[in-house]
Order: sequence, then structure tokens, then C-alpha cells
Amino acid sequence: MRIVMIGSGYVGLVSGACLADFGHQVVCIDKDESKISRLREGKIPIYEPGLEDLVARNVAAGRLSFSTDLAQPVWDADCVFIAVGTPARRGDGHADLSYVHAAAAEIAPWLTGFTVVVTKSTVPVGTGDEVERILRDANPKADVAVASNPEFLREGAAIEDFKRPDRIVIGIEDDRARPVLEEVYRPLYLNQSPILFTGRRTSELIKYAANAFLAMKITFINEVAELCERVGADVQEVARGIGLDNRIGRKFLHAGPGYGGSCFPKDTLALVKTAEDAGAPIRLIETTVAVNDTRKRAMGRKIIAACGGSVRGKTIAVLGLTFKPNTDDMRDAPALAIIQALEDGGATVRAYDPEGMEAAKSMLPTVAFASSPYDAAEGASAAVIVTEWDAFRALDLRRLRGLMVGDALVDLRNIYQTEAVEAAGFVHTSVGRGL
Ligand code: UGA
Repeated sequence: MRIVMIGSGYVGLVSGACLADFGHQVVCIDKDESKISRLREGKIPIYEPGLEDLVARNVAAGRLSFSTDLAQPVWDADCVFIAVGTPARRGDGHADLSYVHAAAAEIAPWLTGFTVVVTKSTVPVGTGDEVERILRDANPKADVAVASNPEFLREGAAIEDFKRPDRIVIGIEDDRARPVLEEVYRPLYLNQSPILFTGRRTSELIKYAANAFLAMKITFINEVAELCERVGADVQEVARGIGLDNRIGRKFLHAGPGYGGSCFPKDTLALVKTAEDAGAPIRLIETTVAVNDTRKRAMGRKIIAACGGSVRGKTIAVLGLTFKPNTDDMRDAPALAIIQALEDGGATVRAYDPEGMEAAKSMLPTVAFASSPYDAAEGASAAVIVTEWDAFRALDLRRLRGLMVGDALVDLRNIYQTEAVEAAGFVHTSVGRGL
């Protein structure tokens, strides 16, 4: 199959590289010339484990290439994926579809032969209809089928998720798209990943419903964690106790500082807006969004409480800035709201993150960036673990304590046991452990 991927961001680049690895001929397109020239030199603009090797291998094999010009690749293509960004629109929270619409308008004139155009970006219900309208208006002769194929990969585990997905969801309105997409995903068929063919609008909604459900699950356990602290229970045991029920499942029940990232915050908001506009509001998700926002700020107050009620004039070491480990992504990271709350309370923040500091620097101009967790802890009243990087799981706690002036270790990801932390001379504050 000859495949074009419009947009070489997270989803586009990972999907393009994985599809090339399946043996397809893939051209990844992006408007950003410097990104494309860096990709041609083998430089990957994001931190994602395994991606650099995957790209290098497929470029060397002649299956993967990069371009800013989509005309010839689209002309040749059997299948064109649209994987451009759909950020939350400023002001109203709706998904901003201008990049998707612009991509459709740009590919329209170059479509020849039967081509399947697939939206891989997360797009609200009805976007496939709009993409089809744009294509047909711009090129009435085009022989095209528009499909929806949402992506469910997680940052940090993107390649594994793409190659071994729990399921593939494909929404079509024209049956001719089915054999083309079956061929695109044939290697996964052979891996026995279930492929669900459904209608286009249903497929679009599945993506939002999946992310909203996961965000709700996290928010649920975060509220239970709060309750555990009040009544003397342990949220990790509660999560295990309920998660062993297969109907609930064990995953996404880790209490923490609230969900962040490029997907859950924007997708929950977009679903709320879509549901509101359709006259079928989803109250559970409206509440999820509100509770999660409150949660991030509450973590700031938790740290202040661990410092005896005030952080004025104190230094706080923040360990972990990215919204989760194994990424350099700072979008909607809980660390941003937490640091804001600490600075509002008069603290000086020294932070360390294994991959996120470059992106964080412009977002956190008043923070001092350290070269290691120990460097961050120098003179600090409290050390706060915000992101559960592996590098923080086996810290030399005695050494850390020895560098600090205070004795608070606030572990917002529950990666330490209280006994070990106390043995090193700390007072341990964790999440949802009331005992
Ligand atoms: C999420 C979904 O998991 C993917 O399936 C989806 O494809 C992706 O959004 C997307 O729409 O593109 P991602 O944002 O990369 O993936 O990260 P997750 O691993 O889902 O984590 C999201 C947030 O939830 C993080 O802040 C994480 O710390 C938090 N989280 C996750 C918890 O607080 N507790 C948990 O148990 C799980």
C-alpha cells in the first residue's frame, strides 16, 4: 500500500513509522520545514522510546520518507491519513478543526484513482462528513471514500500500543474502503487484534467516549483517595480490591495529582461541548473535568500543609514535570498548576525532570532547573515527586534528606513505602493512604 500521513506530530510520526514497518510505502508530510529537514537527518522532534530506531530502520529500507509537499505523494496514494492537531479552541473548549479542514482542502486537487482518506486525528462526531464535503466541493471528480480510524496509542508506549492494540476501530460509509483498510492493518489482523468496522460517526464517538471513560476512572479513584485519607483507608488496596473484579479492571486506577497531557483534558472538554450542543449533556464528564481541575490545585495545598502550613520563603524541590514518565510532553501537566500554587504561596521552586526541562523552561520562567534530583533538593524544605519516572523510584533517600533543610517528602504518585521514607529521616506524605 502507498500511504500518505498528513501531519508528522506524535500520532502521525508514530503511525507512519509503524505502518512503514509493516511493509507499506509511507510518506509523512508536515508544513514545518525545519521539522521535515530534521526528520530527514534522522532527528526525532519528540522523546518517544524506540521511535528513533524505528524511523532510521524504515528510512534505510526505503519505505519511509518525509516531505513538505503533499502533491505527488497524494497523487500516488491508495490511502491518505489526516493526523494533524485538533487542539482545544480558545474560549469555548470545542476542538479546533481548522488544521483538519485545511488538510482536506489541500489534498483534494491531487486525488487520483480510488483513494481512501482517513481521519486519524481525534475529531468530533460529524467531522468525516465535513471532510467528505470539502473534498467533493474542491474536486467533484475525485473517487474517494472517507473513513474514521481513531488512534488509541499512549505517549511513552506508543509503538507497542500501535503494533499490539487492544482493538482497531474503523468507521466507514462506503464499503470499498473496507478492503483497503484491511490491507493496511493486515499484520495486526494476523496478530489477532480485533478490528471493529462500524459507521463513521460511531467511530468518531468511540474515541471520545474511551478517553472520557478513562479520565473518569482516574478521577473516581482520586476522589476515593481523598476519602481514604479522611477515614483511614488505603487507596492502593481499594484499587486492587475493586480492580480484581473484571467488570471494573485494574488499569487506570492509580491515584495521583490528576490527569494531564495532550489528550484527556482537551477530549473531555470537547465531549462535554458536543454533548451540550446535541442536547444530551454528559454530566459525569462535566464533573470529571471540574474535579480534575480542582485536584491539581489541591495538590499545591497538600504540599503547603506538609511544610507546616506555609511555604513562604522556603525552597521546594519538584521531581518530575512532564504529565507522565517517558515523554517530554508538558501539555496540561499537573506540575504546572502545582508549581503555580507553590509560587503563589511564596515558595522558590527548584525542579528536575529527566526529559521535560527543555519544554518546561519557557512555561516556567521563574523556576530554577537542576541537574539531578539531588541538585534540586539542595536547601529544600520539601521534596515533591510529581511524575513517577523510573529515575525517582530508587533514590538514595538518606542522601536526599541530608541535602535538605526540611524533612517533608511528598509522594504524589505513591512510589515509596512509608517505612523506607521514614527510615531515611523524612516525614512521608502520600496520596490516599490514611493510615
Ligand atoms: C491517552 C490514552 O490513554 C490513549 O489511549 C489515547 O490514545 C491518548 O490519550 C490520545 O487520545 O491520544 P496519554 O495521554 O498518552 O494517552 O497518557 P495516559 O497514559 O493515558 O495518561 C494520561 C494521564 O492520566 C497522565 O497524566 C497520567 O499520569 C494519568 N493517569 C493515568 C493517572 O493519574 N492514573 C492512572 O491510573 C492512569
